[in-house]
Amino acid sequence: MALTAVSPLSSKPLLRHHHRYLPTSHKPILAVHAADPSKSSKSSAAAVTPSIPTKWSLESWKAKKALQLPEYPDQNELESVLNTLESFPPIVFAGEARSLEDRLAEASMGKAFLLQGGDCAESFKEFNANNIRDTFRVILQMGVVLMFGGQMPVIKVGRMAGQFAKPRSDPFEEKDGVKLPSYRGDNINGDAFDKESRNPDPDRMIRAYCQSVATLNLLRAFATGGYAAMQRVTHWNLDFMEHSEQGDRYRELAHRVDEALGFMGAAGLTAEHPIMTTTDFWTSHECLLLPYEQALTREDSTSGLYYDCSAHMLWVGERTRQLDGAHVEFLSGVANPLGIKVSDKMDPNELVRLIDILNPKNKPGRLTIIVRMGAENMRVKLPHLIRAVRRAGQIVTWVSDPMHGNTIKAPCGLKTRSFDAIRAEVRAFFDVHDQEGSYPGGVHLEMTGQNVTECVGGSLSVTYNDLSSRYHTHCDPRLNASQSLELAFIIAERLRKRRIGSSHSLASIGF
Ligand code: PEP
Ligand code: CO
Repeated sequence: MALTAVSPLSSKPLLRHHHRYLPTSHKPILAVHAADPSKSSKSSAAAVTPSIPTKWSLESWKAKKALQLPEYPDQNELESVLNTLESFPPIVFAGEARSLEDRLAEASMGKAFLLQGGDCAESFKEFNANNIRDTFRVILQMGVVLMFGGQMPVIKVGRMAGQFAKPRSDPFEEKDGVKLPSYRGDNINGDAFDKESRNPDPDRMIRAYCQSVATLNLLRAFATGGYAAMQRVTHWNLDFMEHSEQGDRYRELAHRVDEALGFMGAAGLTAEHPIMTTTDFWTSHECLLLPYEQALTREDSTSGLYYDCSAHMLWVGERTRQLDGAHVEFLSGVANPLGIKVSDKMDPNELVRLIDILNPKNKPGRLTIIVRMGAENMRVKLPHLIRAVRRAGQIVTWVSDPMHGNTIKAPCGLKTRSFDAIRAEVRAFFDVHDQEGSYPGGVHLEMTGQNVTECVGGSLSVTYNDLSSRYHTHCDPRLNASQSLELAFIIAERLRKRRIGSSHSLASIGF
């Protein structure tokens, strides 16, 4: 259990702190290093890439090619920030990450469903209680809808409390003949289009840390302090959804849940149990800014394993998942549950090798494969990925990110995504799993509780002309609250069909 977890008391310190920068072992963060021949012990990574043998350490990623990392102008300043971060407490507790892994293992077998969502990029500017509450609230609503449809636990994981760093397809941005380094997320540089803002500033990592801690603190308060109690299911509707189709649909379902709770109460089943009065909620982000992630990685005294305590779950992005790259090297040594983003460019054999590097012991729940390739590619490519992974005997949790394969440019020049394309990708994801006899384990969404106009379509029908009115994202376009809820109803219906379908087929073979 995450936010309701009580850490076991231990005579040893919970997490031991490790020094990265011993003067003799200092290596600059950014350079692309050749392999260090002195590090020759065999690891699973070495088995796959025999030419680059490495033994994992907190710093072993520095011997590998690291894409997408900023070039900090002042190494001393960087080092002092990283030393500060190392001295700070971890943001999450390793035991919480382990319990998330257990839950994700359930999802890999079709016994739970992952709902992972939040901003594409959190920002310093949009940091306030209302934003956190509203995104959390829509996730709670979606959780109820999915749980009702699937009749199975919904694992709620935010792209929150740490989702700052962004990989960029183009390292430069050009406007009116002026060329500047691209914006890389608020923990790295600023998005204003001027030279000063675009310089990577290590101090931003401290601010990102503090914002992550404050965000998680509020999430924990909401999750365990009564806000998320199932008895409040009818109160989670957002004001601007009051008179909308999705708002009405949600209200109707919430009343049914409320009635069921009344029935349980009348039957003498207590509604005061923590299961009913609190919720589990975990955090996640892309493991991109390796110096920051390393500084928050600690050895867990309970298990002796290293956990990246910046979040419960981390994922490797589509642009940084090279088998012999620094990001995969770093993640291979941390024990958190991990995600792997997978586009249509992923070859089935490559996926099998990557899974082997990141989960050599084939632990269920350790790896979530987050597929993002657009509906058409999904129908063609996903079956081959599923079959290859199955042939290799690997256990993974398959999840759909229907956002990143569907980004288009609107006539006004803004990046957008169409609700229809997102729905089509989710539908393709479920169809392929039905066809392959595998489990659709969850969804990964860029979404917000705000009434933004960033994705077109949906029942409230945001049009191209509406986009500029409330376009607030710092990176990719997000589903607004109404579109998120609408998508949850669509997914819930698929989960319900799977459930009814499977009970029918069980009945037909005599169970
Ligand atoms: C993201 O999740 O914001 C992202 C950049 O995804 P991907 O690595 O799949 O492109
Ligand atoms: Co994104």
